[in-house]
Amino acid sequence: MKVIDKFLESHWLSKPEYMELLQAWEDVETAGRLRDEAVRLRKQYYGNKVFTRGLIEFTNYCKNNCYYCGIRGGNSHVKRYRLTGDEILECCKAGYELGYRTFVLQGGEDAYYTDEKMAEIIYRIKKEYPDCALTLSIGEKSYESYRMFRRAGADRYLLRHETADDELYSSLHPETMRLETRKQCLLHLKELGYQVGAGFMVGAPGQRLDHLAEDLWFLQTLKPQMIGIGPFIPHHDTIYAQEKAGSVELTLFLLSVIRVMFPKILLPATTALGTLDPKGREKGLAAGANVVMPNLSPVKNRKLYELYDNKICTGDEAAECRACLGRRVESVGYQLVEERGDAL
Ligand code: 5AD
Ligand code: FES
Repeated sequence: MKVIDKFLESHWLSKPEYMELLQAWEDVETAGRLRDEAVRLRKQYYGNKVFTRGLIEFTNYCKNNCYYCGIRGGNSHVKRYRLTGDEILECCKAGYELGYRTFVLQGGEDAYYTDEKMAEIIYRIKKEYPDCALTLSIGEKSYESYRMFRRAGADRYLLRHETADDELYSSLHPETMRLETRKQCLLHLKELGYQVGAGFMVGAPGQRLDHLAEDLWFLQTLKPQMIGIGPFIPHHDTIYAQEKAGSVELTLFLLSVIRVMFPKILLPATTALGTLDPKGREKGLAAGANVVMPNLSPVKNRKLYELYDNKICTGDEAAECRACLGRRVESVGYQLVEERGDAL
């Protein structure tokens, strides 16, 4: 029995079998069968619905120095900015009017926003928009901080594990950052009742297929509600400026694998995918993704939140992104919906 047949039947493989499956990513027949099953499953649970998450990039200050990231603390060429609570609420207002029912507060690890300041912002958003879900994406914090944010009203938390391989993790991050800490944070978040999102980059410098098999294996044990994956894209002010970007095709293959492994998962077609390929997000949806994350940040700040080069949507108003995405989603037979889009 071929490994693809086994996977399509059981939706579940051992680590060496995932490796074998990934080795077939360039095989057109395998990729096609996988995609068909991924789409069948996403339609079974979500029909043609696509959920939106209004993304508010509220600070580009960061104490960390992940070697691949354009806004890493060590990059002195970045002009830094922070949004006030009022500015963040303005973004939510614009987003609410456009039909978004989930807001994602994303930022670097910025000590300016103390736990108390964060809790207050969370509380204000949830008070003003009680029918909306609030997602945080602000990195590694203590159990107590996560608990405080949860009590203030946060519903979800995105913290990509980046790679589940210790050695690769160490090569992409300074010594102060450890994969163990990341994993511990994810467990804490689950314990506190957050809907949790993990994820990784595809084609990060030094990444091999066995690393990706490790990622799938890790996800299989973590069982998150959301999984964010996107291709690595070099940023000119990092040591990886000359590296190749990750593969769009391999990312699409992985999206389908993840949909089959977790039929009900919330899976975004990411901005990075749309940056590498003008039809990247559409292709992501057609491979099994069911979420898009339009940008709600003020236009004046958008170019400053440059994790990688040539990031799309940095010149467009929130309303333009909404209209553009609506058309894109419809072009592949899906529909943007005005719902929180909780995990099933
Ligand atoms: N290319 C692609 N994705 C990146 N991220 C950070 N830097 C890059 C890059 N150069 C991703 C990380 C992080 C998320 C917010 O953005 O996976 O978790
Ligand atoms: Fe932002 Fe197309 S989604 S401009």
